[in-house]
Amino acid sequence: MTTHRTLSRSDVEAVYDRVGAWQDTQAFYEAPAFDALVAGGGFADARSVVEVGCGTGKLAERLLQNHCPSAARYAGYDLSGTMVRIARARLGAFGNRAAVHETDGGLTFDDPDGAYDRVVATYLLDLLSRDDARTLLGEAHRLLRANGRLCLAGLTWGQSPFSWCVSGLWNTVHRIRPGWVGGCRPLRQRPLLNETRWSVRTHTLVTAWGVSSEVLVATPL
Ligand SMILES: C[S@@+](CC[C@H](N)C(=O)[O-])C[C@H]1O[C@@H](n2cnc3c(N)ncnc32)[C@H](O)[C@@H]1O
Repeated sequence: MTTHRTLSRSDVEAVYDRVGAWQDTQAFYEAPAFDALVAGGGFADARSVVEVGCGTGKLAERLLQNHCPSAARYAGYDLSGTMVRIARARLGAFGNRAAVHETDGGLTFDDPDGAYDRVVATYLLDLLSRDDARTLLGEAHRLLRANGRLCLAGLTWGQSPFSWCVSGLWNTVHRIRPGWVGGCRPLRQRPLLNETRWSVRTHTLVTAWGVSSEVLVATPL
């Protein structure tokens, strides 16, 4: 992981309160990564899903509508009040199957050990500090049932000359003004997973319009 300065929680909150529904314009590079995540996540047998940094609830809507069993329950957490309002409105149709909670940015949760079949975090690790990323991964390990799956997607370094240049440019902008890129920077997520605690099931690089995303699905050991 690079040792970039990351945005403080209050800065992240301000950025995402401002961005709001515009977050969904990132679909041009996120959608193909979501496709890979859904394919590797095995959501057809996920009865309980928690998502940290759920944003507008776009992925949650897709999961509940098309991929999870009809009785599956979803809990989303986000520190931006604007994002929470958008996600609640979007997921309202699912009634008590979906709950969205506003947090103070803390990455430990009250749910009991083994409470979830899936823990999802997309384009979140790439804006967290190293310590926060470790806390989140430790918490995901605690929250998952045996054979549950951690489902991650995030910005990463491209491998072709063009996508590598795009990530380099993105990284430079992040160093100068992290808020301009939503606090996110290219990150290699896999080295953050302690492989004595996780078994990696899917590890894919997806590039769309020159922007590369790393998709990682892992099961706790
Ligand atoms: C780049 S957006 C990604 C949103 C969504 N997951 C997606 O892929 O479109 C990051 C989201 O994480 C939220 N976030 C950032 N830091 C957080 C934290 N410490 N706890 C909870 N949510 C956080 C932001 O408010 C924002 O909604």
